[in-house]
Amino acid sequence: MSASNVALVPATVGSPPYEFRRFISAETIQAKVARLGEELAGVYRDRDPILVGVLNGCFIFLADLVREMNIPCTVVFLQLSSYRDAMHSGRIDVLKHVEVDLHGRHVLIVEDIVDTGNSLQFLRSHLESCAPASIAMASMFVKESAVRIGRQPEYTGMIIPDDFVVGYGLDYAGQWRHLPDLYVLNKESAQS
Ligand code: IMP
Ligand code: MG
Repeated sequence: MSASNVALVPATVGSPPYEFRRFISAETIQAKVARLGEELAGVYRDRDPILVGVLNGCFIFLADLVREMNIPCTVVFLQLSSYRDAMHSGRIDVLKHVEVDLHGRHVLIVEDIVDTGNSLQFLRSHLESCAPASIAMASMFVKESAVRIGRQPEYTGMIIPDDFVVGYGLDYAGQWRHLPDLYVLNKESAQS
């Protein structure tokens, strides 16, 4: 973001009890994506990988990541339905399947965030049944609790505290995905 835009970045969005405060800047996020893109380009160059984006949250991270990787790849999407309310996950199903044959291919799942790690576990076993040559996951954000219980993906942008966040593709009740920065739920406002 250009310096002239900095004044337009709101310190908070939403209103209590769902007020979110600016937490991680777009510049920090972009630097992490660049680092991850470089690492993944090294791993997947000459492997013609298939990147499987998990809708809806992945769309901004995936768009940035493929341009940082800048290697030949295929991009497809799948969508899970988790019968969740806005902040808690439940049972998981596939709402939209990938349309390409993953058999013998190098698959990289691209997620916005790993929270409980349930989606990660579900996706891995679901896509393993397609017999890919390899399977790994890149997630922009990983919550500390997922790391603690050993549910960390192979490639992580940033580890963050176990608080609810929005922005950079992540939503609360369908809102705030467009924000270039990451915002975190203001706990005081949530209690009010
Ligand atoms: P899981 O709990 O690791 O299975 O995460 C499931 C999905 O919930 C993620 O892919 C996100 O789309 C969503 N999610 C988890 N934590 C947050 C959050 O803090 N903000 C917004 N969405 C989240
Ligand atoms: Mg997601």
